[in-house]
Amino acid sequence: MKTIETIAELRSELAHVERPLGLVPTMGALHEGHMALVRQARHETKTLTASIFVNPAQFGPHEDLSTYPRDMDADLAKMEQAGVDLVFTPPVEEVYPGEFDTYVDVGRVAARLEGERRPGHFRSVATVVCKLLAIVRPDRVYFGQKDAQQCLVAKRLNADMDLGAEIVVVPTVREADGLALSSRNAYLSSPEREAATVLYRALMLASSMRDDGVTGTEAIRREMRSLIETEPLARIDYVSVADPDTLDELDDVGSRALASLAVRIGDTRLIDNTTLEGSR
Ligand code: PAJ
Repeated sequence: MKTIETIAELRSELAHVERPLGLVPTMGALHEGHMALVRQARHETKTLTASIFVNPAQFGPHEDLSTYPRDMDADLAKMEQAGVDLVFTPPVEEVYPGEFDTYVDVGRVAARLEGERRPGHFRSVATVVCKLLAIVRPDRVYFGQKDAQQCLVAKRLNADMDLGAEIVVVPTVREADGLALSSRNAYLSSPEREAATVLYRALMLASSMRDDGVTGTEAIRREMRSLIETEPLARIDYVSVADPDTLDELDDVGSRALASLAVRIGDTRLIDNTTLEGSR
């Protein structure tokens, strides 16, 4: 495995590699969720590049950039073990040199849910993903369903800017009690960790209501909220049941809907989602 810090060196390494070429973009602090992307990508590509870059631009002014967990040595060991060929670990100035002045704004799908609560977040995600795709020119790029809206933003960006990659979405990896793996779970105290299962419990409630034939989303959102409100350490940011492609809120779940939520557990903001599917 080669670890590369500059765009020029990465480009020259990638010039003659065997394709398909895969890319797994990450911000490090790697856990089994990230590794599921890496493992699937390893199976489906001949050459695999991963990136580790904590993108400062996508953190809001009151968010956790300074405390975001970092462990480059452990991350590189995991990547190597999983058979990654090239790891791109650029310093911030390599990605954003002083004269940097171009941003990518994805429209409607980036405007709601996370986009509404985290102004500028998806602009920064889309910009860095656009740069990574321009640098690596992968055939396939892997994202986690855990960040469902980010997947939609990446798909829109890729299609609209003709970046030519296939966007592959990998299912969410969870702890045994349902909590979705996230680098931010490291912030949770032990009572908070227990309280954090309420996100998954609310999603499972939505799913079982759907299975029982409830299709009205108002009732589903209301029941999800009531469940979360029973947890004293939890504060709801949003609860959504939306069209899985456009993220427009739905009145009726129809044949497919995306139930998603953002909940603060103490000071830690967690997100999760599930697809609601039914026969009607
Ligand atoms: P990061 O949070 O490090 O996540 C990297 C990738 O891992 C994302 O595609 C994310 O959806 C996926 N992932 C995280 N937890 C997961 C889980 N429990 N199961 C499955 N996949 C999971 O997302 C980012 O970084 C950044 O925004 C990035 C795309 C790298 C741009 O800076």
